[in-house]
Amino acid sequence: MEIKYIELSKKSDERGSLSFMESNKEIPFDIKRVYYIYDLKNDWNIRWEHAHHETEQVIFCLNWKVTLWFDDGKEKTEIKIGEPNVWVYIPAKIRHYMKDFSDECVLLVIASKYYDEADYIRNYNDFIQLIKK
Ligand code: TYD
Repeated sequence: MEIKYIELSKKSDERGSLSFMESNKEIPFDIKRVYYIYDLKNDWNIRWEHAHHETEQVIFCLNWKVTLWFDDGKEKTEIKIGEPNVWVYIPAKIRHYMKDFSDECVLLVIASKYYDEADYIRNYNDFIQLIKK
């Protein structure tokens, strides 16, 4: 599976800590879009299960209380984000959703493409057919 962790520099001093990222440096693409998901309800885990044809994303939970689930058509895996300077890179054509988040969790997503519904692969059979090609 091509999911990768992106570990950002952490600058800590007596005031606290600071991490940062830049387009085409820590973020492995040109940033086209940033969105965030909040007021999350655990009953609605399945809402975001989909893959993308082309969009690559980097995702982070601002207060870390979330499990990310992935399926590349061959294997399924789950990861928890545990460090405030570690983000997760999701390439295109990986099915994903998130679960076990707290009400306060804010998921921040940085994307390589502008929003386009045509880029979504929502149907699981369509996804499997695409992976087989
Ligand atoms: P989305 O979470 O993709 O829908 P779903 O719950 O069906 O998976 O998006 C919810 C709504 O927000 C939908 O009307 C599309 C819109 N949207 C944008 O306009 N821009 C975006 O970047 C995203 C992620 C969603």
